Amino acid sequence: MLTVNHLTKSYDGEKMSLTDVSFSVRPGEVTVIIGPSGAGKTTILRSINQLIRDDDGEILFDDTDMRQLNRRQLRQARCRIGMIFQNYNLIEPLTAIENVLHGCLGTKSNLAGIFSMYRNREKEEALQLLQKVGLGEFAYQQCRNLSGGQKQRVGIARALMQRPKIILCDEPIASLDPKSTVTVMDILRDLAVNDGISVLINLHQVDIARKYADHVIGINNGQVVFDNRAKLLSDVAIANIYQKNVNTEGSLVHEF
Ligand SMILES: Nc1ncnc2c1ncn2[C@@H]1O[C@H](COP(=O)(O)OP(=O)(O)O)[C@@H](O)[C@H]1O
Ligand SMILES: [Mg+2]
Repeated sequence: MLTVNHLTKSYDGEKMSLTDVSFSVRPGEVTVIIGPSGAGKTTILRSINQLIRDDDGEILFDDTDMRQLNRRQLRQARCRIGMIFQNYNLIEPLTAIENVLHGCLGTKSNLAGIFSMYRNREKEEALQLLQKVGLGEFAYQQCRNLSGGQKQRVGIARALMQRPKIILCDEPIASLDPKSTVTVMDILRDLAVNDGISVLINLHQVDIARKYADHVIGINNGQVVFDNRAKLLSDVAIANIYQKNVNTEGSLVHEF
């Protein structure tokens, strides 16, 4: 469904931020990327939808290399890739439902991106998605009045409005309290298990990865040092992922 092959990236042409990163993401699974700060997690997610251009490698999304698409094709492919951010990226003065409706902007001209011009069918769908994430009664509240956990759930509803095949989440719970963390992670897991969406999440909380992931990818210093089922994420593997300057020789676990 999504396969990353030999991804390589340097921002400055000297220091490597990603070196030969390869992994696959399966539909209906939660895949979590863990690793220390600066390991390259965000760079991987932003390369997938080509928000940044990687230097080398292949990103196969439904067997098409994202790197080879022209602008129009890339826009279409991005419509099938939902994004969830640590800081929500909502338009705070707008209501929850207006933010969710922005999720289908990719399929419209800019002019149509005004609330009154959305079709009733789209407004109904946006409301249903807010209900799905438990926020039906907050649909007409301005986002700036919502809690962090509620904002992130609006972010999820907005991503779902695109009818994504995959959702990429960059530290989605980093700003949330423990209770909101559980709510948001439960929703993301439900999207994988019940809706068959691939969910790829960058996290630094190992305990959350253990609880929610089917598949874990460990990144250290821009390299994949663990790629396996979550139940095989041992304490030794975690120590390896989080140690400084891992030498990947002999430490890469790559079996399914
Ligand atoms: N825009 C940028 N310009 C230059 N270097 C960057 C940029 N973004 C990230 N980096 C570098 O790339 C490496 C990986 O960063 P990042 O992907 O943000 O890691 P993570 O998300 O795991 O914390 C780090 O060394 C970071 O300093
Ligand atoms: Mg990051």
